[in-house]
Amino acid sequence: MIRRPLAAAVSLFSLVAPFESVAQSPEPVRAKHGMVVSIHHDASDAGLEMLKQGGNAVDAAVAVGFALAVVYPQAGNIGGGGFMLIRDKHGKTHFIDYREKAPAAASANMYLDEKGNIIPRMSMTGMKASGVPGTVAGLAYAEQHFGKLGLAKVMAPAIRFAEEGYTLSAGEVGSLHSANMAKFPESHRIFQRNGDYYKAGEVFKQPELAATLKRIAADPTEFYKGKMAQQIADFEAKNGGNITAADLAAYEAKDRKPIEGDYHGYHIITAPPPSSGGIVLMESLNILSGYDLTKFGGDRSPGQVNLITEAYRRAFMDRGDYLGDPDFMKMPLKEMANPKYAAAWRKTITPGKATPSAGLERPAGFMPPPPQVPPVKDHMETTHFSTMDSDGMAVSNTYTLNFLFGSSVTVEGLGFLLNDEMDDFASKMGVPNGFGLIQGPANAIAPGKRPLSAMTPTIVTTKNHWYGKGKVRFVLGSPGGPTIISTVANDLISIFDNGLNVQQAADAPRFHHQYLPDELSVEKKFPQDVAEQLKAMGYKIKRSGEFDEKNPGVWGDSELIAVDPKTGELLGGHDNRKDFGKAAGY
Ligand code: DON
Repeated sequence: MIRRPLAAAVSLFSLVAPFESVAQSPEPVRAKHGMVVSIHHDASDAGLEMLKQGGNAVDAAVAVGFALAVVYPQAGNIGGGGFMLIRDKHGKTHFIDYREKAPAAASANMYLDEKGNIIPRMSMTGMKASGVPGTVAGLAYAEQHFGKLGLAKVMAPAIRFAEEGYTLSAGEVGSLHSANMAKFPESHRIFQRNGDYYKAGEVFKQPELAATLKRIAADPTEFYKGKMAQQIADFEAKNGGNITAADLAAYEAKDRKPIEGDYHGYHIITAPPPSSGGIVLMESLNILSGYDLTKFGGDRSPGQVNLITEAYRRAFMDRGDYLGDPDFMKMPLKEMANPKYAAAWRKTITPGKATPSAGLERPAGFMPPPPQVPPVKDHMETTHFSTMDSDGMAVSNTYTLNFLFGSSVTVEGLGFLLNDEMDDFASKMGVPNGFGLIQGPANAIAPGKRPLSAMTPTIVTTKNHWYGKGKVRFVLGSPGGPTIISTVANDLISIFDNGLNVQQAADAPRFHHQYLPDELSVEKKFPQDVAEQLKAMGYKIKRSGEFDEKNPGVWGDSELIAVDPKTGELLGGHDNRKDFGKAAGY
């Protein structure tokens, strides 16, 4: 158990000896003018290069996004989708939704056999698993509307990494041994050298991807309406995929209004639907804001983990019943964020005890009945990065192919992997998806619909603080499927309730609960004595990586930036669970 931030600095590192990394300083990286944090050092450096050239936080973020598509093919992508939350130097916010959309040929039961059973893995691997990619549209939209340097400049580092190659570390070559990718000849050829697997220290070049990126830099609309769109559609048609030229032409990124709320006197700006992340985060924090958590113990103490878990359980219950694509339905977001509703939920929590999910009843009088039928349109691998510039502009971006290397399918001749985002829909009501999430009719598959996400890019600003009003204080986010929401919430609670710095928050052992399955997941390094006490309260503890040599026992990748209120310096916290990432500032 960790009682004090200072103690945390020491104990966290004995608790969280990162599985594939050397122990690093518990202090964040400090810089005066700009900061970029991402899972890959080359990508962070690409963002930094833009800031040094006079670019702003969006230029840096778009450079990182395209660079990760080259140097982190596990999740970085142009064949997937995501969300970019921007807060400009005047305090205006934009949430760029570039989530994938189901192709027109998609249907509610497309992953079921004739007996109505789910066809294993069909929504996760191979040609039928992909939604229409949104990344190129999203990054290009962000650059064109909010960047300063232009696509050619911000894509230059990515093109360079693809053309000249980048050096692979041991951790990176390990994940390229994906058994799924070995099943697809183009992926096997490019990422696995036809079985002569890359070794640590070798330089990995991607000439097809370099050519694709050059074409996008010259004209990003080619991906959706031009010759490239036709190439993608032809590849899909030839190999039994669903995405057509018309699907690509119909794709558009959307600039949406973020979810906003307060926690402990700070203002939180976060992801709206089609992400469940922001509203589930705010509902959880609203429930928790009624407690003085420090009275129940320190960071990761049984008393705190108990209450936080109970808040997650309740907010995730609402997630499954109510949330889906906002273009297809109205959602009770105001009701979910109502402090009175949070207070009513709080009354159902008994400190020191687990409430079983089975039989948990929603407080009456606050929420409408959940949808019973799919709405009709009226008319685990992801990655996060954060950037900030000297003007106070901040970007929080999470994007994804869904599982590691997405569908494992590489588009022939274009050198990029396609997503398996279709698995984020509910393929069958009541049956868990790849993340064990049981979801309702609100998230049923329909043509043109965006699957419900958990990605939670978040920016925190000051309210009435001595060092300013409406100033960016934190930028954060993480991958991890549904654990994204608990990772972001855990980070905020560690920071605001327990006084940890961003580096300590990133490295603290994680825990997660998502209502169903009714188990409290903990990372491998989560303190055993705390887990024992939680067990005694009635929790079923699932320790990640236990009895499984191949499972690293960790999840997520928090990439945070804080602003030091005293000096105005930027503090970068990079998640030490991966040893090839970097907080890069100047
Ligand atoms: O949008 C979502 O919620 C998922 N597709 C995210 C997947 C993910 O984070 C996997 N990474 N670890």
